Amino acid sequence: MSTTTELSFIHRFVPATEPGRRPLLLLHGTGGNEDDLLPLGRLVAPGSALLSPRGKVLENGMPRFFRRLAEGVFDEIDLRRRANELADFIAEAQESYKLVAPIAVGFSNGANIAAAVLQLRPEALAGAALLRAMMPLRDPPTVELTGKSVLILSGASDPIVPLDNAKRLASMLSAAGAIVQHRVLPAGHVLTQADLGFTKDWIDRL
Ligand code: MLT
Repeated sequence: MSTTTELSFIHRFVPATEPGRRPLLLLHGTGGNEDDLLPLGRLVAPGSALLSPRGKVLENGMPRFFRRLAEGVFDEIDLRRRANELADFIAEAQESYKLVAPIAVGFSNGANIAAAVLQLRPEALAGAALLRAMMPLRDPPTVELTGKSVLILSGASDPIVPLDNAKRLASMLSAAGAIVQHRVLPAGHVLTQADLGFTKDWIDRL
C-alpha cells in the first residue's frame, strides 16, 4: 500500500492483486480519512485496486469533500468546484497508476460528492455505490449516464437523509439513463452488515 501527496489529494493506493477487476474509488464520510474505507473496499471487492483520497475541506477539524452551510444544506458553489477537483484527481490517478475508470463507493458525504461527480463529470466514474446519499445539487445539469450502474442504499430511519430526498436522487439518475438499484434497509445513517452484503453482490454482478 502506498500513501502519497504527489497527486492533488492526499490518498492511499492499494494495487490490484487480481488483474481485470475494476478499481474502487473510496470516499469517506464527514470526519473520516483515507484509511477509513480500505477494510470495506477489501471486503466488497477483494483483489481490486483501491484508491482512497482524503477530503480537503475541514469542518471543525473534520475532513469532508465539500463545504456545507448546515446539516443537509450544501454550499453548491464549493460543491461544484470540489466535484471537478475530485474528477481531475481521478484522471491523474488513472494516469499514474494505470487504472481504468473506477467505481466509486462513497459513504454519506463521500456518497454525496460521488453523486455530484456523476452529475457534473460523468466520464470520471464507471459507476457508483452511494451509501446514505442525498441529492447533492438542487439544479444539476442534464447529463448522459447510459450504461453506468448505480446502487443507492438508504436507511429507513436515517435521521440525516430524508428518504424522499434519496428517492429523488434515484429517479434523477435513472432519468439520465443510469441503471439504478435503490434499496431501503432497516437501518439509520450508520452502515450495517446488510450494506456490505448488498454492495458486494452488486459489485460481483457488474
Ligand atoms: C453531507 O454533509 O454531505 C451530509 O449531510 C452527510 C454528512 O456528511 O453528514
